[in-house]
Amino acid sequence: MEHSFWHNKWQLDQVGFHQENGHPELVKYFPKLSEGSSVLVPLCGKTKDMLWLVEQGYRVTGVELSEIAARDFFKENGLTAQVSERKVNGNDFNVFQCDQLPIVFVVGDFFNFNGESFDALYDRAALIALPQEMRADYIRHCQSLLKASSHGLIITTVYDQSVASGPPFSVLDEELISLWNGHLERVGAIELIEEEPRWKSKGLTSFKEHIWVW
Ligand SMILES: C[S@@+](CC[C@H](N)C(=O)[O-])C[C@H]1O[C@@H](n2cnc3c(N)ncnc32)[C@H](O)[C@@H]1O
Repeated sequence: MEHSFWHNKWQLDQVGFHQENGHPELVKYFPKLSEGSSVLVPLCGKTKDMLWLVEQGYRVTGVELSEIAARDFFKENGLTAQVSERKVNGNDFNVFQCDQLPIVFVVGDFFNFNGESFDALYDRAALIALPQEMRADYIRHCQSLLKASSHGLIITTVYDQSVASGPPFSVLDEELISLWNGHLERVGAIELIEEEPRWKSKGLTSFKEHIWVW
């Protein structure tokens, strides 16, 4: 996906992927970490899930292309931030350090992002937002940013891509298992076709989310 695709979405406020109440399965399945653990949220949009992670006692770093998403995130949640510019390997990032909560919101291309080694990963609508040819790089980059002892949660979408196309793309279990190439357990499979009229109207009879943890 070109960066312009996502920048346009944010400029036109076409952010149907955003969940006003966060993702229901996060609460149920996110691994229990020790107090103060660091959680990386790639391609974070303006997800409220970052607030839930902070409420659990974790420090959160979100990485997102769109500065509109960052500004919306702070404004809509009644938060403020100190903004600074950072160069990583010659690439520009704007870093929003939240004043009230342990949240760092980094604006820039995730593929150029480099930071600490994180204790955990939370991926909702990140891997599945990327076309197949980008997914191996994405997983490799996530893994390079995680400690060997890391935990995490990835949510994939699974549907018949010969009937409808993404994003969100369908990422089959075999693909994720092969890309991740490490311990990963599928703990949930949720059928959403009745709640997603958009997919039903495209002719799909099933649209599932699969929840993975390690
Ligand atoms: C489908 S949205 C999901 C957002 C968020 N995870 C959520 O659950 O609401 C995908 C997001 O990834 C961002 N994005 C796409 N490519 C990116 C990249 N290379 N680096 C950082 N963010 C990116 C887009 O701007 C968009 O906000």
